[in-house]
Amino acid sequence: MLKGKSIILGITGGIAAYKGAALCSKLVQAGAIVHIIMTESATRFITPLTLQTLSRNPVYIDTFDERDPAVVSHIHLADHADLIVIAPATANAIAKLAGGHADDMLSTTLLAATCPVLVAPAMNVHMYEHPAVVNNLELLAARGVMFVEPGTGQLACGYVAKGRLAEPEDIVLAIESWFGRGGKLKGKRVLVTAGGTMERLDPVRYLTNDSSGKMGFAIAEAALLMGADVTLVAGRTSVAPPAGVKVIRVESAEQMLEAVTGIYDDMDIVVKSAAVADYRAVQISGQKLKKSGEKLVLELERTTDILETLGQRKQNQFLVGFAAETEDIDHYAMDKLRRKHCDLIVANDVSLDGAGFNGDTNIVQIFGSEGLVEAMPLLSKREVAVHLLELIAGRLAYSGGNGK
Ligand code: PMT
Repeated sequence: MLKGKSIILGITGGIAAYKGAALCSKLVQAGAIVHIIMTESATRFITPLTLQTLSRNPVYIDTFDERDPAVVSHIHLADHADLIVIAPATANAIAKLAGGHADDMLSTTLLAATCPVLVAPAMNVHMYEHPAVVNNLELLAARGVMFVEPGTGQLACGYVAKGRLAEPEDIVLAIESWFGRGGKLKGKRVLVTAGGTMERLDPVRYLTNDSSGKMGFAIAEAALLMGADVTLVAGRTSVAPPAGVKVIRVESAEQMLEAVTGIYDDMDIVVKSAAVADYRAVQISGQKLKKSGEKLVLELERTTDILETLGQRKQNQFLVGFAAETEDIDHYAMDKLRRKHCDLIVANDVSLDGAGFNGDTNIVQIFGSEGLVEAMPLLSKREVAVHLLELIAGRLAYSGGNGK
């Protein structure tokens, strides 16, 4: 898929710069022609010689180090690139790109480039959440810059939080998505729901579930890379949503219902990966519930099934539901597919290690009206998302647009 593609890999000065070597190697193995541009600070973390050896091309650091008198390097590189990837992208590199600075080889090349740009940020969580960085990311997303979100885990600074560079495999997957699948969902409006709903009991207590939002966010990110216009309706999540998508925040199942049905008619594809509460409190106490007696009985009532409502109102939308099961997967998945009028159901056995809630991986089986369509092994949620969207895009193309 990447054979013969010219990719500039910009490596900036963070500890994750060492992962740039693995990324470079994977891109070269996939057939890409890789030109490395390092910032001065990146050379403190990893040597240019490593990257020159892996890329089999000279490494650029200094704008004025012109080796070929026939060309101006930053313009020549920018003109011949199919894609520029910045991984890791520090807060400083992101700020320079947002501000249009051109004070080193990488920023100058970026300013001269007209090809797409993919940014993989990596930094301390507080830096990543700083309003200045958030603003810069939003600005870049609005300009069409694509992102591979950082992962959550142990950061070099000691924090366990969001900010670590996405794994090189995931960055390659995003790059392949762009080249191989880029445009497959162009012009499509995609609605993804993610996270868990919160059903209030009183001002400080609520019923919720373990959904982190990672599965839905991976689907939103992958859809964006495939050219779709993506809206996310997100409940309670433990990670930040991907840059570049419109995000509508909700709390309860009722609010999710309102948000989703309000925009449903304008959507081409809807993927309901959110974990929605099936029950809510009959009465939400205005005051904090007081301790009284040894037992407390809560009276709950059914929430509206959002997916079922969408299924009943379906016009031309391609509707995908999820099913979180612990037994008899095929039976329950097919039952949900038929009852909720879905085009596909993605079933995950949430009792399996590596599947379902919270982690970075999932094990899913996808069902269509004909039965089992695809059974996937343990994959990262990003890989699951790409496979799912490939399947949806294929079905839409086959049906001439509406998946029927
Ligand atoms: O967010 P993560 O931590 O990454 O975890 C991912 C996940 C486990 C939440 C995800 O993979 C998943 O399985 N999502 C669906 C969870 C769920 O609510 O499953 P369900 O079998 O109870 O519901 C079936 C479908 O109906 C789902 O598409 C759900 O969004 C929808 N539903 C359910 C109840 C309701 N009131 N309204 C709904 O729309």
